[in-house]
Amino acid sequence: MQNTQLAYRYLKYLLHSNTKYGVHPPFLFNLVTKVFEDRTEYPAYQIIEQLKTVLLKDDQKITVTDYGAGSRIDSGNERMISNITRHTSKPAKYGRLLFRLVRYLHPENIIELGTSMGLSTAYMALGHPQAKVYTIEGCPNISQIAQLNFHKLNLKNIDLITGTFEDQIPGLLEKIGKTQFVFIDGNHRKKPTLHYFEQCLESSVNDTCLVFDDIHWSKEMESAWKEIKYNRKVTLSVDLFFMGLVFMKKELTKQDFVIRF
Ligand SMILES: C[S@@+](CC[C@H](N)C(=O)[O-])C[C@H]1O[C@@H](n2cnc3c(N)ncnc32)[C@H](O)[C@@H]1O
Repeated sequence: MQNTQLAYRYLKYLLHSNTKYGVHPPFLFNLVTKVFEDRTEYPAYQIIEQLKTVLLKDDQKITVTDYGAGSRIDSGNERMISNITRHTSKPAKYGRLLFRLVRYLHPENIIELGTSMGLSTAYMALGHPQAKVYTIEGCPNISQIAQLNFHKLNLKNIDLITGTFEDQIPGLLEKIGKTQFVFIDGNHRKKPTLHYFEQCLESSVNDTCLVFDDIHWSKEMESAWKEIKYNRKVTLSVDLFFMGLVFMKKELTKQDFVIRF
């Protein structure tokens, strides 16, 4: 049932989405042409995707502590690494987008809520190696595998924090002061998503970009996305169906775009 609803929402998105020709603000036009439509095969893609192929074959079982909503995987605490990878990691298309976004926006710091195997973290860490990437994962055993993956990829600009978002976000925000790029990819329910949004918004600056995963995944997430894009501080929202981006740039007139991606 949920899949049918998602397919229906996707069809609606396809019918209502714009291409670059329907986009007016120069900032967004540049984002579409230089980031969304950039088809360069960056060498980093292969490095991360080779590791993903290995993880997809890894039948090692680990005990998983379940947090929030967002992973439609079978319940039970023992899961194979291959299954966790298959069900939680973003398709390469979106990992690559994260890589290009941070490469283009070059934030000094990046926060990720929801590390899982660390693949989206790796895209961002390699997309802008000068940035410090803080990624939070609640499940200690998953976090351990992610850390191993960062070693395998020789990534030195990642600070992996093991703990719940609820416990870890306040201290992290206090430590870094301002948020510049945040990828919210865990606990896909309305109330927590809005709470994380408000926390990040409070420490946002003019060039902050907040990225939300799975904004059409459920009615709750659609409702959260609506509140996020209508927030008075948000001046530009971009709906790519599987991801939503918001910007708080004061120089922009408030606009909401649905872009074909
Ligand atoms: C969808 S996965 C992240 C996938 C990863 N970003 C990627 O694309 O490769 C979400 C992760 O967030 C973690 N998570 C969910 N809710 C959490 C919470 N409240 N506190 C800490 N971790 C949480 C889950 O354990 C899970 O590993």
